[in-house]
Amino acid sequence: MTEQTLFGVYGASGAGRGVLPVARDMLNDQINDAKARLVFIDDRPLATTVNDTPVLTYPQFLDSPETKKSVCIAIADSNVRQTLADRCLQDKLDFFPVKASNVVIMDAVDIGEGAILSPFVTLTSNIKIGQHFQANLYSYVEHDCVIGDFVTFAPGVRCNGNIVIEDHAYLGSGAVIRSGLPGQPLVIGKGAVVGMGAVVTKNIPAGVTVIGCPAKPMTPSREG
Ligand SMILES: CC(C)(COP(=O)(O)OP(=O)(O)OC[C@H]1O[C@@H](n2cnc3c(N)ncnc32)[C@H](O)[C@@H]1OP(=O)(O)O)[C@@H](O)C(=O)NCCC(=O)NCCS
Repeated sequence: MTEQTLFGVYGASGAGRGVLPVARDMLNDQINDAKARLVFIDDRPLATTVNDTPVLTYPQFLDSPETKKSVCIAIADSNVRQTLADRCLQDKLDFFPVKASNVVIMDAVDIGEGAILSPFVTLTSNIKIGQHFQANLYSYVEHDCVIGDFVTFAPGVRCNGNIVIEDHAYLGSGAVIRSGLPGQPLVIGKGAVVGMGAVVTKNIPAGVTVIGCPAKPMTPSREG
């Protein structure tokens, strides 16, 4: 009997429900040939199936009979994503990338493990991206960008050329980032947050949230 691989999309909430159909499409032949099974993994499942796909808890996933298991972490919060990635590594699970069939990837693009590239994403040329990157619908990354680990793009992020984005940065829907220059990139610091619709024209320090056009730090009263 052919050995089956169990593929798990970690997270059955909004992000995961947007990722699973892309994974299903990618694994379609293996699933039809009974070489693969695809499930959600959720630590607090609200149901045993979501959108006709079984939902397993993490212990149930680990206990499933398949000897080969692979995970894609579909959680937008990058800190949670890192915690889950560490847990999976401890349990010697590996990660599979999810890439929509219409994603465009040009030349010399180096992407770390566990990436999610949603429909209509484009990555042009000479780009380096770290682990567990998430690029949601219609986002693009232009030439000569360097993106760290656990970076998250909401839908429609426009990341132009010569930009450095450090680990755990989050770019909200429709954010536009001005291009940097060769040897003088525009830098979005570690853990920075770019609000939806912001137009970023300058470097953003680590941990700072910016909004607006041109993007400015949120004032303390606005940060609640
Ligand atoms: C910037 C952001 C992180 C701030 O979140 P928050 O700290 O919870 O802020 P609040 O919602 O409490 O808003 C605080 C104030 O900032 C304003 N504000 C929030 N986000 C803003 C944005 N992107 N642009 C302009 N103003 C914004 C609010 O209107 C509010 O203004 P007020 O004080 O005059 O009422 C968030 O609004 C955001 O843009 N997140 C990205 C969302 C996204 O792209 N999701 C995609 C999911 S797939």
